[in-house]
Amino acid sequence: MPATQIESNPSQAQSSSRLQRFLNCYWLRPENAFWMSLRSQALESHPIKGPSIDLSCGDGVFSFLHAGGDFSSEYDVFMEVGNLDEVRDAFADMFDHTNVGYEPMVTLRPDRKFEVGTDLKPNMLLKACRLDFYECLVEHDHNHVMPFENGAFQTVHCNSAYWVQNIDQFMSELRRITRKDGRILLSVKLDSMRDYTLNAHRDKFGQRWLDIIGRGRIESWPSLTNDETWKQRFKAANLDIVSRTPFITATHAHIWDVGLRPIAPLLVRMANALDEHTRQEIKSDWIDLLSELLQPIHNANFNIAPHKQEPAEILYELTPA
Ligand SMILES: C[S@@+](CC[C@H](N)C(=O)[O-])C[C@H]1O[C@@H](n2cnc3c(N)ncnc32)[C@H](O)[C@@H]1O
Repeated sequence: MPATQIESNPSQAQSSSRLQRFLNCYWLRPENAFWMSLRSQALESHPIKGPSIDLSCGDGVFSFLHAGGDFSSEYDVFMEVGNLDEVRDAFADMFDHTNVGYEPMVTLRPDRKFEVGTDLKPNMLLKACRLDFYECLVEHDHNHVMPFENGAFQTVHCNSAYWVQNIDQFMSELRRITRKDGRILLSVKLDSMRDYTLNAHRDKFGQRWLDIIGRGRIESWPSLTNDETWKQRFKAANLDIVSRTPFITATHAHIWDVGLRPIAPLLVRMANALDEHTRQEIKSDWIDLLSELLQPIHNANFNIAPHKQEPAEILYELTPA
């Protein structure tokens, strides 16, 4: 029987320092900051031993922070964005953009690196490259077989499997590239998230309102499914579950659902139009306030629903059967 881990209780100081580091980078999307910080907290008891690979690493900021890295308070991910006019109606990705001069302003380097990082988007890989945190970065679409040897990695990390259409092949590929005694650390979102929205109240809000809040995000995740189906996918790929750590509750997902997503492009434009000093002053006050507001929520078991509901994200530790 796989162990279901209850999220270990990190000290208050460790927990708020982690949240603080994530807020520094993601301050204009505080609902993403607490989610990512909880994801990092869940990963804490799972060492990332080399050779290691970070699949769909994006700009690398999540894994860099998780590994203990830190950035100057003058740095955040909203400084290097584009397509802001197309984010709202064309669902463009503002982060899929970079300039040659991009400098992530690192203040603390983690004491380990990933051997490999992959992503579909060249701009994200260019940003990840500037972190000097990956020995090698590979542009790859995970709907296809991966360009790595059998058993190449001791640790395979991925928090973006729900984007992959060809999910069964992806699962077998995870097994193939993992050493016999290796570990796959997979954070999976569950389709319970569809219920943790206001969609059931269409009669009160109207479709236009729900579309503004939703921005089609859940619909663009082709392999989102329930816990049972994830387990079947692991079984079909010959992967054993070593441990299972739920870390996002229904309450977290409800809060995330009506976060700052719809106004994010406007907030980013506003913040980036400020002079450096004013931006920094506001950012600092913003983070102080948000740290306090998010503190009770920043707990893997936080739930105010009257009865237990399916979690919205689970960290699975898997190994080849
Ligand atoms: C939500 S981001 C997460 C990035 C990073 N892992 C993190 O935690 O910040 C999802 C990432 O998956 C990448 N992605 C989406 N579909 C992909 C695919 N088919 N193959 C490889 N990467 C993909 C996107 O480019 C994006 O960088």
